[in-house]
Amino acid sequence: MRMVDVISKKRDGKELTTEEINFFIEGYTKGIIPDYQASALAMAIFFQDMNNRERADLTMAMVNSGETIDLSAIHGIKVDKHSTGGVGDTTTLVLAPLVAALDIPVAKMSGRGLGHTGGTIDKLESVPGFHVEITKSEFIDLVNRDKVAVIGQTGNLTPADKKLYALRDVTGTVESIPLIASSIMSKKIAAGANAIVLDVKTGVGAFMKTDKDAEKLAHAMVKIGNDVGRNTMAIISDMSQPLGFAIGNALEVKEAIDTLKGEGPEDLTELVLTLGSQMVVLAKKAKTLEEARKMLVQVIKNGKALDKFKVFLKNQGGDSSIVDNPEKLPQAKYKIDVPALKGGFVSNIVADEIGIAAMILGAGRATKDDKIDLAVGLMLRKKVGYKVEKGDTLVTIYSNREDVNEVIAKIYENITISDHAQKPVLIHEIITS
Ligand code: URA
Ligand code: CA
Repeated sequence: MRMVDVISKKRDGKELTTEEINFFIEGYTKGIIPDYQASALAMAIFFQDMNNRERADLTMAMVNSGETIDLSAIHGIKVDKHSTGGVGDTTTLVLAPLVAALDIPVAKMSGRGLGHTGGTIDKLESVPGFHVEITKSEFIDLVNRDKVAVIGQTGNLTPADKKLYALRDVTGTVESIPLIASSIMSKKIAAGANAIVLDVKTGVGAFMKTDKDAEKLAHAMVKIGNDVGRNTMAIISDMSQPLGFAIGNALEVKEAIDTLKGEGPEDLTELVLTLGSQMVVLAKKAKTLEEARKMLVQVIKNGKALDKFKVFLKNQGGDSSIVDNPEKLPQAKYKIDVPALKGGFVSNIVADEIGIAAMILGAGRATKDDKIDLAVGLMLRKKVGYKVEKGDTLVTIYSNREDVNEVIAKIYENITISDHAQKPVLIHEIITS
């Protein structure tokens, strides 16, 4: 087989065989196929697309390009959740203990954040003592015993995707549905998931900026998952403004605790219940999404979800007393209220720019080696659709630096107050098959 023939075939809009896709992924991973040929094929795929069979084959070829995590020693159906990424997305912190409280195994492999905000591990590390450096066997034992554990990224998973994604980044071929969908799904499958729930974000703060693109991606991923034997569901959710009120690591842990108590922000709570219901159904603990939601609401009400969070933190060295005493979380030295300059309704909070404002304070990393300040971040006091009077606090800045003029300027630039505004719709679509 010659790579040039594979490229020409796709360039002419023809369907690639399983063997041709495997030939490409294996050869590219090993360095036998050069970047220039891989980028030509990526561009051909960008223009000519791939059918469902090709997409499933590409996904599995990337899964098989490296190690895979074997979670078969964990009893039950392992459902993983993936979000395409947003600002102030505290969902995983809430979902993990919440779903585990229903005896569904949550074996989470997570990463650190880059850019706007921290990743799940960064957030959890704001709990004193908590760590994710546990062995594979400790991880499995914890999930079997208490149903939830988080481990840092281990192993050489999907090396083909790492290489191809980096290449796409510099060859104008990131924005291709088959390439994005196979990239995301291959990572979830390699990490051992039996079933997958996807939160595809839409809006200015999201990777997919329009509903139409988000819809295409969500449907593509659900199709791939189901075609390769991993039951998959998805939702499309709003990321035009940040999720919840808190943006920043310790602040989001506090927000997660509030949500597990049933006292969290309305949007975060709704998102968690929607995604959680899909996880419960995929784990086969409920037949319908409605039944699943009732079960989730119940473990919030009876305190089991919060108890599970304590056990989870303690199991991994964390001080679980922060749940009842959140003031033990890292605290910022300065709290600065940013007042509204006029009255009206909040009509826009630009999610990604507000995320960058939090990053400037030190809540996120600009480069991989930056150190994060766990205490700092932003608390939104008004969200889109809220009425404000002149002088009301729009945002509270939590900072360890006294000079926050740059951050204040960014907040004013990216929060709009108008005469009218409506609360945005949070869940745009629910995709179950
Ligand atoms: N995120 C991924 O993991 N892969 C893509 O191709 C795009 C976004
Ligand atoms: Ca939040």
